[in-house]
Amino acid sequence: MKIGFFDSGLGGLIILKAVAKHLPQYDYEFYGDTANLPYGDKSEAVILALTKQGIFHLFDRGCSLVIVACNTASAETLRTLQDSILTDKYQDHRILGVIIPTVEEVIEARSKRVCVLATKRTIDSGKYEREFAKFTERPEVIGVAESRLVPLIESNEDEAAARIIKEHVIRARAENCDALILGCTHFSLFKDVAREVGWGVVTIYSQDEIIPQKIENYLARHPEITSKLSNTGKREIVLTEHKPTYDRLTAEFLGGVYMGEENQ
Ligand code: DGL
Repeated sequence: MKIGFFDSGLGGLIILKAVAKHLPQYDYEFYGDTANLPYGDKSEAVILALTKQGIFHLFDRGCSLVIVACNTASAETLRTLQDSILTDKYQDHRILGVIIPTVEEVIEARSKRVCVLATKRTIDSGKYEREFAKFTERPEVIGVAESRLVPLIESNEDEAAARIIKEHVIRARAENCDALILGCTHFSLFKDVAREVGWGVVTIYSQDEIIPQKIENYLARHPEITSKLSNTGKREIVLTEHKPTYDRLTAEFLGGVYMGEENQ
């Protein structure tokens, strides 16, 4: 059995690359729903339906553990999907998200005021606030919705994207935030740019640096899942739509092991 990664686009490859580097022995499959990107301004019902489709695809391709690397999908669908599809034929399967592990990391660092930079849908869902609210010692949370970045990043417009990320970090610094969560898979690509202007005053949380250890911990706690994982080091990518501009990212992240297009 493989570990599957679901994302609305290519951003989740950043998380997968980091996980596969940390735990190279396992087999991984990535499903990027590029035909339906962006999710960030879609309705909850549409995000739920698309995420479910992607997860079933990964289950049917032999993934017994699926990481919903997309913050937007994690925020809107995770609990519903965990409750509704992990039954009968899939009762031994597991679905994990990226928001709770990220919140835990910020809590451990005892941040006082954190800016969450994410898609409109993630911010509107209030999911980050709800997860922080479970802790008595918690930071004040400031959600900032940003819709321009995902299309820019997917089309390789790095300079424009970097400028926007910098503006957000500078604003967070001016608003006395001591932490900023890059709460969208795509934004992790710009963590270095963010750190340049964070000056060490604003700690930048990038999920590619958080999730690998969290998955390792999860697997150590769940031998019933780990014992079923295959160990041939295979990596596969399926995108629901392929565009030439994607080649750079797929090549950069998985040596271009691109399996094909899954028309939806
Ligand atoms: N990958 C998504 C996330 O992490 C955002 C991209 C989108 O809007 O589809 O939130």
